[in-house]
Amino acid sequence: MRGPSRLAVISGGTSGIGLATAARLAEDGFDLLLLGRNAERGQRAAAEISAKTGVHADFLAHRSEDFEHYPEVAERVGERTVDVLVASAGTGRQQRVVDTPVQVFEHILRVNVAGPLKLVQTLRDRFSRPGAVVLISSDAAIRGEQAIGAYSVSKAALNMLGQMLALDLAGEDVRVNVVCPGDTLPGMRYLLPPGASERDPDDARKWPLPPRGRLGEGRDTAELIAFLVSSRADFIVGASILVDGGSRAGAPDRVATPDPTTEGINAEGSREAHARHVTVSRRSKPRETTRPAESGTD
Ligand SMILES: NC(=O)c1ccc[n+]([C@@H]2O[C@H](COP(=O)([O-])OP(=O)(O)OC[C@H]3O[C@@H](n4cnc5c(N)ncnc54)[C@H](OP(=O)(O)O)[C@@H]3O)[C@@H](O)[C@H]2O)c1
Repeated sequence: MRGPSRLAVISGGTSGIGLATAARLAEDGFDLLLLGRNAERGQRAAAEISAKTGVHADFLAHRSEDFEHYPEVAERVGERTVDVLVASAGTGRQQRVVDTPVQVFEHILRVNVAGPLKLVQTLRDRFSRPGAVVLISSDAAIRGEQAIGAYSVSKAALNMLGQMLALDLAGEDVRVNVVCPGDTLPGMRYLLPPGASERDPDDARKWPLPPRGRLGEGRDTAELIAFLVSSRADFIVGASILVDGGSRAGAPDRVATPDPTTEGINAEGSREAHARHVTVSRRSKPRETTRPAESGTD
């Protein structure tokens, strides 16, 4: 017989990785409080999970950057305790950090870093003991991406936030960990170039495959989270764990040196000073990089 039902609060629980996590935790019997901005999407997500699994799933419209409204989250939790908190709401911009207006930079840090902190502070007295918190970061926290500079900065900060919270809350029997997904289908809806309001539906076609040979799915990260919040992960505290199919494991083989009879050697027979390579942003748009010409010793 199942014990008293446990509650998981999930910010950004109405879409993508957060939604996949909600569905996965519901399979484990967790009741859910999903947070997001779009009420139609949120109510539909809660209703569908509830109908499929039989858990109680609720939705609260909530904006991560509106700090004065966080008490509403605690009010909706009511008399219950929070067994699990997952902070998945995230935003960004496809722009180099040097070109990012500071107002945009501040907004990204407010949503991606200060929001999760405020959520933990709001629910601190409501956590069950033991309790578990998982912050959804990114592989861009481990190795920054120039094309999404402010986002990379925010996710690196989020990883350190997770470590500091882990220290602060370990003595309160609340474990805090961070997961760092790699490219995960269908991709973030709010990581767009300046001026864009919707992402290109074909975006994912441009993503290079990780060594694992496929792109990530929300379920990949959700499975790790289901483990991390369980008692099986009792000794895992303050960890930042990649779920990226090996993308950040190391540099892949270098591209073979081009045939010198057709490429790379100019009329005088000397190699060009710099070869120009076009790579594809892992999450977004094509970008150009330069690197020194191949040495020919590969
Ligand atoms: N997908 C990837 O490739 C990938 C890779 C690495 C890391 N991540 C991280 O994983 C997390 C989820 O990404 P995803 O791909 O699942 O994105 P997504 O499908 O765009 O979902 C984002 C979720 O966050 C909510 N949200 C966004 N901005 C918010 C705000 N200002 N206030 C409150 N809620 C807000 C959205 O709610 P509404 O729809 O109601 O606005 C939605 O529920 C993010 O933290 C992201 O950085 C994603």
